Amino acid sequence: MPLQVKRLGRTFFAEVSGLDLRQNLSDDTIAEIRAAWMEHAVLLFRGQQFTTEEQIAYSKRFGKLEHNLRDDNAFVAPLGNLNPDGSIRDPNSEQSKFLRANQLWHSDSAYFAAPAMLSFLNGRVIDPAMPDGHTQWADMLAAYEDLPQSKRDQIEDLVAMHDMQTSRSVTGRVLDPDERKKWPPVYHRMTRIHEETGKKIMYVGSQATQVVGWDLAKSKKLFVELMQHATQDKYIYDHKWTQWDFVCWDNRRVVHRQRPFDEAKYPRVVFRSVVEGTAPDVIDGKGVNELERFQAIHNKQRAAAE
Ligand code: OGA
Ligand code: MN
Repeated sequence: MPLQVKRLGRTFFAEVSGLDLRQNLSDDTIAEIRAAWMEHAVLLFRGQQFTTEEQIAYSKRFGKLEHNLRDDNAFVAPLGNLNPDGSIRDPNSEQSKFLRANQLWHSDSAYFAAPAMLSFLNGRVIDPAMPDGHTQWADMLAAYEDLPQSKRDQIEDLVAMHDMQTSRSVTGRVLDPDERKKWPPVYHRMTRIHEETGKKIMYVGSQATQVVGWDLAKSKKLFVELMQHATQDKYIYDHKWTQWDFVCWDNRRVVHRQRPFDEAKYPRVVFRSVVEGTAPDVIDGKGVNELERFQAIHNKQRAAAE
């Protein structure tokens, strides 16, 4: 059955129907999905009742998977508000505070030198009575292209330090010494070239801490200004979850956030897998030439294909 793709957002976000992603899909179908993905940035597939193994198998078709943050042997992470025994976790627990950073606009794994490329979420436990707990995505490409040229020039060569602690601070979570050691601050250019579409897009989110060479206050002012611009209603798509929705997004183009919900009342668990991104975009504190990086990645892909 051919892929049916329906754009739901203004500049991005599409629903794809007619596929059971648990089947062993042909390379052609995967390529078709990838093309739709690069065009629309976020894809929604409804009714995908994945087991963990099935979600891993599907996700792997798009690249090498990131390990779960807390378990080097796992490639799928259950993110939610339940204890292992199925009871609802204390919203004031350290784990809940850690996960609540997902309610700030972010691109996944910005705290890695090679931030996430593609993310997948399967809504496994979604209480139909839960009135909120939506997820929202914002199109950073559309937002970047609408910036005045002077602003694009200003951020063109800037490098920003990104730090997991920065977003956690907002939720009252302090990284313990082991976590601090495992996840030190990293550096990214504020504009990056998308490796598949060749589009230039700004890269900023809740982990952005300081622009290299700038003081903290001036840096924060710039991050807030860019994020306020990028998260205007016209750039956002808001998704209300139904159980077994499977949403896949491209972290190079969009930022996302979870909307709050009554964590003490409604169970909500989404299973997440992530395809690794590429690095580095910064070497010795200086942004690499993105055009050269883009070409190097393509040459490597071409060589691998031959
Ligand atoms: C994530 C994330 C948001 C949500 O899994 O990366 O940000 O709504 N989740 O659960
Ligand atoms: Mn996320």
